Amino acid sequence: MFLERMPPSRASRSRQRWPLVIVANTLPVRRRAGRGGKRRWESAPGGLVSALAPITRRAGGAWVGWSGSAGRAPGPFEHAGITNLPVAVSAAEIEGSYEGVCNRTLWPLYHDAVRQPEYHRHWWRHYVAVNQRFAAAAAAAAARKAIVWVHDYHLQLVPQMLREIRPDVRIGFFLHIPFPPEELFVHLPWRGPILRGLLGADVIGFQTRLAAANFRHLARHLANARGREAHLHVDGRAVEVQAFPISVDFEHIDGVARRPGTASRAAALRSRLGQGRRVFLGVDRLDYTKGIDLRLKAYGEFLANDRRLAKEAVFVQVAVPSRERIAEYQELRRTVEELVGSINGRFGDVGNAAVHYLRRHLPFEELVALYRAADVMLVTPLADGMNLVAKEYVSTRTDDTGALILSEFAGAAPELKAALLVNPHDVSGMTEAMERALHLDAAEGARRMRAMRRVVRRNTVHDWAEAFLGRLRAE
Ligand code: G6P
Repeated sequence: MFLERMPPSRASRSRQRWPLVIVANTLPVRRRAGRGGKRRWESAPGGLVSALAPITRRAGGAWVGWSGSAGRAPGPFEHAGITNLPVAVSAAEIEGSYEGVCNRTLWPLYHDAVRQPEYHRHWWRHYVAVNQRFAAAAAAAAARKAIVWVHDYHLQLVPQMLREIRPDVRIGFFLHIPFPPEELFVHLPWRGPILRGLLGADVIGFQTRLAAANFRHLARHLANARGREAHLHVDGRAVEVQAFPISVDFEHIDGVARRPGTASRAAALRSRLGQGRRVFLGVDRLDYTKGIDLRLKAYGEFLANDRRLAKEAVFVQVAVPSRERIAEYQELRRTVEELVGSINGRFGDVGNAAVHYLRRHLPFEELVALYRAADVMLVTPLADGMNLVAKEYVSTRTDDTGALILSEFAGAAPELKAALLVNPHDVSGMTEAMERALHLDAAEGARRMRAMRRVVRRNTVHDWAEAFLGRLRAE
């Protein structure tokens, strides 16, 4: 198969070198139409960027990533105190690597194969080529003995590729999504290259102990790694494999939640949803791992069990569009929209919808106001690396009110044990949890919320980044 040759990115031709290099699929910026139609860069939303941007800025670091558009990459540029080093990705590579291997092979496989993963060799070649280009850009950017921190499932070959070019640098890798057990991982035709790719790092971080244990087991069985617990040995090198649960910027979110403007926005939302109605909320990317369909089904049964509840409660589902060119995502959208329609058709009234469905990205302040307005937050993924929505909700509940219904299969569950934990496949169990949340005794609710807030306050996203980098700096 003919592989398109992309020119080496201008980033890898620049002379400058940085002591800290972050490598992630996308840059911490996105292009937006500004005044007069002129396009300009602005900071990308999201927890990872807000966590890593200050650290990168303080260290005088650079960030290697894709700009979001196909073809030639723009040259290196500064934005908000960080040097961005864009890597070129062609249209064919977006299809084969990002939409193919990343989101139709690895994404479903790593999420308990809740959809059938597809394995195509013509996709894999693109994944290898993209990883090679990122590794070359990182190698060119890193100063002598620099720290290079590689992120997520798009770039699992980069640690080893980078080590081959730059054996002097310290390499960290963090996987933001779950890492599957052996019986699923072994299906992957490229299991060997991926394990070896990851083992090129000095420190490999996972969201949970379970994910770290899955990886250690596979590294020993399939990649000749030796050693116990967190410390593996491969090819005469030490590799540390540990859980570093990611988090949110608790202080910042707590602060936004306490603003008078947020309180009045939350009050306005509540009155528009129907004064005195109990508000259930879901906030997810429109992704089949998030369990939105089963959650809606459970809410439909909750209303069917007691029709009066349709007047006393209301459900708001925010669904952020995602990966819309992929068939499984289009199918999920149809399913969710049919369910919303059927619940509203059956239980709604004129001026009194049972479910409000917002398929869009909300500005952060608006999201915090919604969290403040919600009596019951539903976070019920079938599988999830961590789920930061759960931690964000908890961070906004400054008065210890509100209930969190949380899937046992979210990476956040082992930390947020005080949530009402559910099995998202058990629709009746979820309906019961909704009833329980509605009638939760105020003192018990406050005790649970206090415990969860303590957990998030003690391990913020800043602590997470410091903990990981601390291990990476320790030789
Ligand atoms: C997950 C992944 C991230 C990814 C995000 C959004 O959280 O771990 O790496 O950026 O989903 O997905 P998208 O495909 O839109 O970047």
